[in-house]
Amino acid sequence: MRKFIQKALERLDRLDHEQVAHLIAGLSEENELFAGVLESMTDGIVVTDTGRRVILSNRAAARMLGLAAEDVQDRTLCEVVADRELADFLDAHLAGTEKVADREFALDGGRRLLSVSILPLVREGRVQGGLVHVEDITERRSREARLRRAESLASLTTLAAGVAHEIKNPLGSMGIHLQLIRRKIGGKECVDSRDVEPHLAVIAEEVDRLNRIVVDFLFAVKPMDTRLEDADLNAVVSDLIAFVRPELDQAGVAVESDLAVDLPALKLDVRFVKQALLNLIKNAMAAMSGGGRLGIETRRNGDEVQVRVTDTGTGIPAEIMEKIFEPYFTTKPFGTGLGLTIVFKIVKEHFGDIAVASREGEGTTFTITLPVPQKDTMLLEDRRGAR
Ligand SMILES: Nc1ncnc2c1ncn2[C@@H]1O[C@H](COP(=O)(O)OP(=O)(O)OP(=O)(O)O)[C@@H](O)[C@H]1O
Ligand SMILES: [Mg+2]
Repeated sequence: MRKFIQKALERLDRLDHEQVAHLIAGLSEENELFAGVLESMTDGIVVTDTGRRVILSNRAAARMLGLAAEDVQDRTLCEVVADRELADFLDAHLAGTEKVADREFALDGGRRLLSVSILPLVREGRVQGGLVHVEDITERRSREARLRRAESLASLTTLAAGVAHEIKNPLGSMGIHLQLIRRKIGGKECVDSRDVEPHLAVIAEEVDRLNRIVVDFLFAVKPMDTRLEDADLNAVVSDLIAFVRPELDQAGVAVESDLAVDLPALKLDVRFVKQALLNLIKNAMAAMSGGGRLGIETRRNGDEVQVRVTDTGTGIPAEIMEKIFEPYFTTKPFGTGLGLTIVFKIVKEHFGDIAVASREGEGTTFTITLPVPQKDTMLLEDRRGAR
């Protein structure tokens, strides 16, 4: 159809009345098709001119941005959008030449989340206006939150399985020693205390062990009262390095820190982030008993910030790699095996992820990825509070 219209337009002066009518009908048909497509889209589209005035918008955009048809005529988009933050954003970027993708805005007091992108409308090499794409991501975000909750439930199941496994041994041993005592006192009126003392000592020891398991377990599973507040990750890392430096010096471990200068503020519970990083540093130190290098790096990667802890220690054998985050997994004679479980839990509380790469004999790198604050975390907090 477009080719036909193009051709007809080229020889417009030679067309008769009927052909012009046909051409207009064709144009109107094509126009209707585009309008239909635009209206049936679930994403919002707004086209503005170079003066940021609305020249075209679809129903989804009107609904999401709260635009009424009579409002938008000859007014700039920034004037008709009620949310101040969103209006300022549109004002700042609409006439620009740069594409701005997927900025998130919380509207209606955090009940609705929009992802907004702006693209320059370029024709014949010049910016002729702007195209605003709006997507309602409220559902998607809450689906992601549900998934995260399911994930932490799954890790709780592993934790429970770990505890069950841990308490089996002390319970078994207590059972055996109780039987031995029973045999020694069976049918006798008086018993020499020296006969039963060793068994009682073992039982007391096992009770202690059980108690330790339960206390550690409770610490690992109890809901953390994380309070996420704006914080400077680099400052947290620097404080921590200053705190552990004497210990590292003594162990012959040199610290190399490389902190990104352009880090945005993150939503952190500083106490817990310090604890997680400290656990990683302690593991790194334990892996470098003969000294080595500890690297701590922060860097921004799009919508995420990464903090990386690297050591030049023993490395983690491939066959235990799967297990290191499991509760009670340890290769150390006096380890509890809960260090990394707690790190994992803290990272999840911050909506982040943790990855590990290691080579035996060369060293290990743990990378924690944290999201740059978006309005969805606010939304989740709101919802948690509402329940
Ligand atoms: N940086 C590392 N280099 C080598 N092995 C590591 C490193 N970090 C963890 N591991 C391995 O993972 C295991 C589990 O670590 P995790 O921190 O959970 O427990 P742990 O250090 O053994 O005990 P603790 O509860 O005292 O921290 C360790 O025992 C060790 O085998
Ligand atoms: Mg540890």
